[in-house]
Amino acid sequence: MARLFSEVNKGRVRMRHKRRKSSPFPFNNAGGRFSVSFAVWISVFLVLFIYFISQITEKTDGKLIRVHPNHLSVTYELEDIEEEPNFRLPPPHKRNPRAVKRRGSKKKPPAYSEFLDESSELHSVLFPDRRLAVGPNAGNDSSSTGYFYPGHVWLDTDGNPIQAHGGGILFDDRRKTYYWYGENKDGTTYHTQPKGTARVDIIGVSCYSSKNLWSWKYEGIVLRGEQQNVTHDLYKTNVLERPKVIYNSKTNQYVMWMHIDDGNYTKASVGVAVSKSPTGPFTYLYSMRPHGSDSRDMTLFEDDDGRAYLMYSARDNVDFHIGPLTEDYLGLTGVMKKILVRQHREAPAVFKHGGTYYMITSGCSGWAPNRAMAHAAPSIMGPWENVGNPCVGGNRVLRLTTFFSQSTFVLPLPGLPGSFIFMADRWNPSNLRDSRYVWLPLKVGSLADEPMDYSFGFPLWSRVSIFWHKRWRLPEGWKNVN
Ligand SMILES: *[C@@H]1O[C@H](CO)[C@@H](O)[C@H](O)[C@H]1NC(C)=O
Ligand SMILES: *[C@@H]1O[C@H](CO)[C@@H](O)[C@H](O)[C@H]1NC(C)=O
Ligand SMILES: *[C@@H]1O[C@H](CO)[C@@H](O)[C@H](O)[C@H]1NC(C)=O
Repeated sequence: MARLFSEVNKGRVRMRHKRRKSSPFPFNNAGGRFSVSFAVWISVFLVLFIYFISQITEKTDGKLIRVHPNHLSVTYELEDIEEEPNFRLPPPHKRNPRAVKRRGSKKKPPAYSEFLDESSELHSVLFPDRRLAVGPNAGNDSSSTGYFYPGHVWLDTDGNPIQAHGGGILFDDRRKTYYWYGENKDGTTYHTQPKGTARVDIIGVSCYSSKNLWSWKYEGIVLRGEQQNVTHDLYKTNVLERPKVIYNSKTNQYVMWMHIDDGNYTKASVGVAVSKSPTGPFTYLYSMRPHGSDSRDMTLFEDDDGRAYLMYSARDNVDFHIGPLTEDYLGLTGVMKKILVRQHREAPAVFKHGGTYYMITSGCSGWAPNRAMAHAAPSIMGPWENVGNPCVGGNRVLRLTTFFSQSTFVLPLPGLPGSFIFMADRWNPSNLRDSRYVWLPLKVGSLADEPMDYSFGFPLWSRVSIFWHKRWRLPEGWKNVN
């Protein structure tokens, strides 16, 4: 999140991330030095023709049906297209009067931000109250056991709401356990300036452990905010966001990277902490400006070969930078590439499937949700191409707001190649501690929900799809399939 820039961008949520018009023919990218041979063109048009024919035959009664039967049958239920026909936005003339008063009637509020306001009619739909909480101790309704309910209060094994915002998950192979790290925002939301962005003091990074990804045990705060020392990076009035942890097998250390900032987002740095145990305590090492650049929303990605990478929003969120970490994961090498140039993206979540790298990002509109974009690349260092809005199902408003949430992490599901969990935050700027989690199934490949308007409908990349579900669960035996 770039809360600072929410103010800058007030009133004009930019849909800047329109896809770059890229050449439909990858063979052309050598700079046009070779004229593409007639035979290649013919085969391209043949493939296009076959593709269009298949697109037509995939439609029955104007509805798309499931294609590509090579997918595992156990994941079918994840791909159901669930519509939300009765979901309506309040009509424009019924704008929430408090929001209008606060922002002035002239300036249009950022799209959808007013619906996050507690007095909005939609608020209770997006933030169902505690009685509808889910989790191992939520009540005696066993029919909801094991089901994810995006946007509902999610309780840990002690019955407390999970506090792990802007988080990420580490699967610890040695302990066969998942660890979920995120911002503990269980404090009072306040504004430093009347028009400033909503914030909560740094409490620290929470850790939760689980074997099944649904029932989470609180492991405590593994990196604490600093109460006394005002010059410390983690002093409570500063900012600690999007902590991500990876394990370094060479040093046997768990390494956490996070966005470190001051209260007005001018420090724009990354911080590093280490621990011998996944459940901490982590020792805070230092912060820096990566490659000498400002850095805000960020994430880590560890590749199969043990190389890890940092990617972050740079140049006031205009570009993204990516660079490899040193072997001990505690620093950066000198290598850096600019990616998603001038696309104004944040909230990166990176994953890999079938040798291709994928990333989900959001636009920059502060706490207000906006449209997600999926990106794909043959190499982690790029070039990255936009492959469209991954959101499928729900309704148009839900798809244009990433289901009223913002990406934070994508977790591969072992045993189900091409299946992932998309993890996102539904921020509640009027009470940040009550921000919710939106977890949904993500698939690479498979069906198209709408005509792929890029590259003349010819998909150069597999489609990335995030399927809307009000309620869903992992397929039976998801860990054992293979
Ligand atoms: C559990 O069930 C009992 C009896 O049906 C009911 O009185 C109680 O309120 C339920 N508890 C919760 C948390 O739903
Ligand atoms: C306060 O934090 C700074 C920066 O981390 C550190 O250099 C200094 O030693 C700390 N002071 C105390 C009293 O711990
Ligand atoms: C940002 O905050 C620091 C202290 O937290 C202050 O010294 C500085 O003037 C602020 N900068 C702006 C641009 O408000």
